[in-house]
Amino acid sequence: GKSGYDHFMLKEIHEQPRALRQCLQGRVDEMGGRVTLDVDVDPERVQFVACGTSYHAALYGAELFRQAGVPAQAFLASEYATSPPPVDDALVIGVTQSGETADTLSALREARSRGVRTLACTNTVGSTAARECDEVLYIRSGPEIGVAATKTFAAQQTALNALALSVAQERRRAGDVRDSLSALRELPGDVQAVLDESNAEALAEEFVGAPSYFFIGRGVHFPVALEGALKLKEISYGHAEGFASGELKHGPLALVTDETPVFAVVTGDGPLATKTIGNVKEVESRDAPVVAVTDGRSKVERYADHVLEIPEAPPRTAAVLANVQLQLVAYHVADRLGRPIDKPRNLAKSVTVE
Ligand code: M6R
Repeated sequence: GKSGYDHFMLKEIHEQPRALRQCLQGRVDEMGGRVTLDVDVDPERVQFVACGTSYHAALYGAELFRQAGVPAQAFLASEYATSPPPVDDALVIGVTQSGETADTLSALREARSRGVRTLACTNTVGSTAARECDEVLYIRSGPEIGVAATKTFAAQQTALNALALSVAQERRRAGDVRDSLSALRELPGDVQAVLDESNAEALAEEFVGAPSYFFIGRGVHFPVALEGALKLKEISYGHAEGFASGELKHGPLALVTDETPVFAVVTGDGPLATKTIGNVKEVESRDAPVVAVTDGRSKVERYADHVLEIPEAPPRTAAVLANVQLQLVAYHVADRLGRPIDKPRNLAKSVTVE
């Protein structure tokens, strides 16, 4: 059942701290400074294949692998399956919570037919992806009923984080690993803090019915922007788009008015934050209502009308926390509109046709 929540989606959003603890259980040894995964990979290069929300997790995962010094790229599974790139000696990672998405299975089969190793990052034990791939990394988030992927996305981010760290560890980038390990250990508690303190419901009230919503982010926050937009359109039926912050001025800025709320994910106080603040100023000067999703370190709130606060964390885990705020915004906008949140029109939980 829904354990007292109005929708499975809200229940599953609230289950995230537990889902992430399960995902990390026995895999992260902070004292020993090590990640232990029961997958055997040390790839020369990585190609991710996935659809929808899982594709956003794949984009995030590819960024983390690149940070670990491994060339990595994320592909939409439907494109990969019909127009595959050269595989060389890549490891192909299919990210699919169900393990049954037809486009993703085809892409993985395409890769296997060319003789490369495959890994399934999935929630579902015994799924087709798990059975057909050489290696499996389970995300262990527990079953997800809502059509909108929430806790499985957070668990995909977390599992891919651990996978990228295990590769960094093989390459003896010990400093990176130690800092990131403690951030991962703090993540479930930080997600709980976001859930306990979020003002997303009030913000959703304020912006319900906007003609369009924009989400912007850079680096690890770019996939979060895409995911924030997908969640909002999927369950509220409102128009929403996610952009890499730097792309706004190359076209989408023409759509920005005083009626288009812009959600900007800005964490830390490094060069990425400074650059995104530049983009926030671009929309602010067009009178767009700006919502900063931030830990406050960059002072982006000076240019924002509203803040969705998250705890201080390194970028890779901040991306998980920021996404939780955006899940709540999407949920509450859709709820205000009375949408059938757990079963949005035209969509299915598992898409088994290409
Ligand atoms: O089961 P999968 O992770 O392969 O599903 C992929 C997409 O169909 C899925 O993420 C879809 O985009 C979600 N409904 C989004 O919330």
